[in-house]
Amino acid sequence: MGILLPDLPLPVRPKIMNHPSSLSDRGHLAASSMIRVDMQLYEEALADNFHAVDNPQGALLMNMAENNLCWPTLQKKIHQVTRSKEIPHWVSNYTSALGAPSFREALANFLSRFLTKRPINSEHLGCSAGATPVVEVSAWILGDDGDVGVFPAPSYPVYKQDIGNKAGMEKYDLITHEELDDIQDQLILSTAHLDHALADIESQNKRFRLLVLTNPDNPTGNLYSTAQLNEIAKWCIDHQVHLIVNEIYGLSIIDTKHPALERDYPKDMSFESFANIIQEQESDYLHLWYSLSKDFGASGFRIGLVYSLNDEFRQAYNNFNAPHMVSNYTQWVFQEVLNDHDFITEYIKENQAKLTHSYSIVVRYLREANIPYVPSRGSLFSWVDLSVFLDTPTADAETRLWQSIYENTKVLITPANGFGNKKRGQFRLVYTAMPPEQLEIAMQRLINYLKTL
Ligand SMILES: Cc1ncc(COP(=O)(O)O)c(C=O)c1O
Repeated sequence: MGILLPDLPLPVRPKIMNHPSSLSDRGHLAASSMIRVDMQLYEEALADNFHAVDNPQGALLMNMAENNLCWPTLQKKIHQVTRSKEIPHWVSNYTSALGAPSFREALANFLSRFLTKRPINSEHLGCSAGATPVVEVSAWILGDDGDVGVFPAPSYPVYKQDIGNKAGMEKYDLITHEELDDIQDQLILSTAHLDHALADIESQNKRFRLLVLTNPDNPTGNLYSTAQLNEIAKWCIDHQVHLIVNEIYGLSIIDTKHPALERDYPKDMSFESFANIIQEQESDYLHLWYSLSKDFGASGFRIGLVYSLNDEFRQAYNNFNAPHMVSNYTQWVFQEVLNDHDFITEYIKENQAKLTHSYSIVVRYLREANIPYVPSRGSLFSWVDLSVFLDTPTADAETRLWQSIYENTKVLITPANGFGNKKRGQFRLVYTAMPPEQLEIAMQRLINYLKTL
């Protein structure tokens, strides 16, 4: 097993100019940077993937945020579209860099009915090949070199590259709590935290340009309340900070009334899209990101979008997005899929039932072993605290525990390194990449090993 790279430098405007490479300074640094700390083990695990008959001792991957639970249903629908319909001529030509008009119309109708629950105008959407370029292009348009994007910690680690690689922005991890228990009914973030971050960033002569919230959250699976989002939105508008809510897990919602889970949720709370606040406030500073990667288990199709009422932002998006467009063929296939609202209704129901079932398997094992976890309300994750198994409360010990879990169980999870949180020993488990039978095996292996420590 090779050496793991810690939090890696970004390939932007490096200071080291003296290298033997034929590449630019940026290219040279990019060639030696890895996108996430678990990439190397991931490749190793993929080569030894579990198979019930051919490789029953093989690796079980719980690190990549993929949802494979409903692929057969989506696959059947896509076959139906591609076998029964003729490809329209526009597919073979160029189209708007924001997305083909008919595709954006289909997306707007889908969002209005299923995610935002209020009408979305297709003119206010811009599409790119997944959430990754949506984040990258948005950051490039909204921030300048050295500007700061603030992310409540823990957060999706790749945001750092997404706002840094091209836009040259810096990620600021806003620590709002340390223990999992601090997160009770909702995520922790108040305007007092934002005042503190603003003062800290300005004291370094930098500009607080973006605040990014993921709702439901990666990695905790918890939610921001509407009251909280309203207050934060007003603070951002007053301070001319762009607030973006990433709703990439907006339809991956756990049934918190499930008998095996309900005791974890003393307070009722449901997901409400940020689109409501965007439309009420009509501000140039509020935006929403979405992608089909997670809710539809369609990360390979590469479809993401931004919703914004800021005309100048969308104009810039149109002018900058050409290298990041979704292929017209994919736009066409998904426009046909998304236009079938009966299918989508059933698909979301099936996905949420399967998501809840798989999540309940994870929770059963965690409870049995007394492992603290954040009760999830959505997303594909469980965020757990294994700090009692660390020999010292350090990042090195966290990495050692993570490696020893993999070496002894072949279960690959994600360490908190890069998520920006303070306490060491927290880990993220993805429970949707494998079917429930395999998840049982993965959790058995994991818990049995932890019991030996
Ligand atoms: C919060 C968040 N944003 C963006 C992405 C990237 O998504 P995509 O595959 O659509 O680029 C992920 C993927 O894990 C994510 O969790």
